[in-house]
Amino acid sequence: MTGIADYDAIVLGAGAAGLMCAATAGQRGRRVLLLDQADQVGKKILISGGGRCNFTNIHTGPERYLSANPHFAKSALARYTPADFIALVDRHGIAWHEKTLGQLFCDGSARQIVAMLLAETAKGKVDIRCGQSLSEVEHSDATFRGTFGNFRFTAPNLVIATGGPSIPRMGATGFAYDLARRFGLKVVEPRPALVPLTLGGADVLFRELSGVATPVEARAGKAAFREAALFTHRGLSGPAILQASSYWRHGEPVTIDFLPDAAPGWLVEAKRARPRATLAAALGGALPDRLAQVLTERLALPGELGAQSDRKLADAEVRLKRWTFHPNGTEGFAKAEVTAGGISTAGLSSQTMMAKSLPGLYAIGEAVDVTGWLGGYNFQWAWASGYAAGQTL
Ligand code: FDA
Repeated sequence: MTGIADYDAIVLGAGAAGLMCAATAGQRGRRVLLLDQADQVGKKILISGGGRCNFTNIHTGPERYLSANPHFAKSALARYTPADFIALVDRHGIAWHEKTLGQLFCDGSARQIVAMLLAETAKGKVDIRCGQSLSEVEHSDATFRGTFGNFRFTAPNLVIATGGPSIPRMGATGFAYDLARRFGLKVVEPRPALVPLTLGGADVLFRELSGVATPVEARAGKAAFREAALFTHRGLSGPAILQASSYWRHGEPVTIDFLPDAAPGWLVEAKRARPRATLAAALGGALPDRLAQVLTERLALPGELGAQSDRKLADAEVRLKRWTFHPNGTEGFAKAEVTAGGISTAGLSSQTMMAKSLPGLYAIGEAVDVTGWLGGYNFQWAWASGYAAGQTL
């Protein structure tokens, strides 16, 4: 193909953020080209939420996001809210339900969300092209120029919406960061987030518990999450751990309260009520048996409760409340639901997502250093940041 096609905006990456951005700008009358190297759009949406897409969370607020600048997400999140996305879903007749903790899922399939976004881009007459690679993008005279396969294009606006490197087997790369750096933006070091943690050393005993899950409160840094933890053959997972992993840094501990609902002094009281019971039996009422056994071994309190001093039991209670694990790593980008870090918000306008140093360049979605909690928050950021840029292009 020869010739160069002119557009008002090029959106690179047809994931959640790119689709929303392109649809929004297209419906404002902008001529938008949406490009994706994958053979189909919205692949992560299709596998999300176990195939049902946890598309938003009704408790969305800036405090549920990590970023070097915790204020950055406020403006976009306030201007495109979960209620706005729910209204869109409702207009398309997609049935949904709240599963738990404000997490909204499709009753049917994540495919409905992709079909909805494609319908919205069609309404905006967005030109979508997939399955080629972008060989070059350059900027001069207030114009971006590039080649996709052998299709050449120009536009005064370019949106980086190519996500982060989590799940590389789906084609995820650090492309966004390379491009951003090339145009003078800084990148906060990317790291796997919402990711299982691995255990070694003295904690290795717990790997025997692979498959055991229990409700806990998990803490990393200043964050605490009350949800289920799951032991795996490599270490720790489950929602409480995935959440904590986003706040965890190498060398730091993760503490777990195995009995977040237990009243202070419960173990001494258990001794008074059932002096012949073992600690494993006392714990077994509240925890899975295999976990109760391992904890009892680690606490080195064999035999009957009646044979233990109140002091020892009080100490054991404290340890069960603040059990300290020392993860030796994470399962990495291969297993991370999202990437923390990314294109630094310091170089972007929080109103429009446009680069302060290069008018016409935008960055949205997971590519940016804004990372949500587990439970629909990451898609809400993709919708909100995509909408903010799409309103401005
Ligand atoms: P996203 O990764 O969706 O899209 C980027 C696009 O850019 C892709 O289509 C990719 O092919 C394309 N691309 C990459 N490099 C390119 C290049 N060089 N040229 C052209 N195109 C390129 N979140 C949530 O809120 N609720 C949930 O239920 C889940 N569930 C979930 C499950 C699993 C298994 C994963 C891995 C992740 C989730 N997430 C989630 C997170 C969520 O999927 C993620 O935050 C968003 O998809 C981010 O949207 P983006 O559009 O920013 O990137």
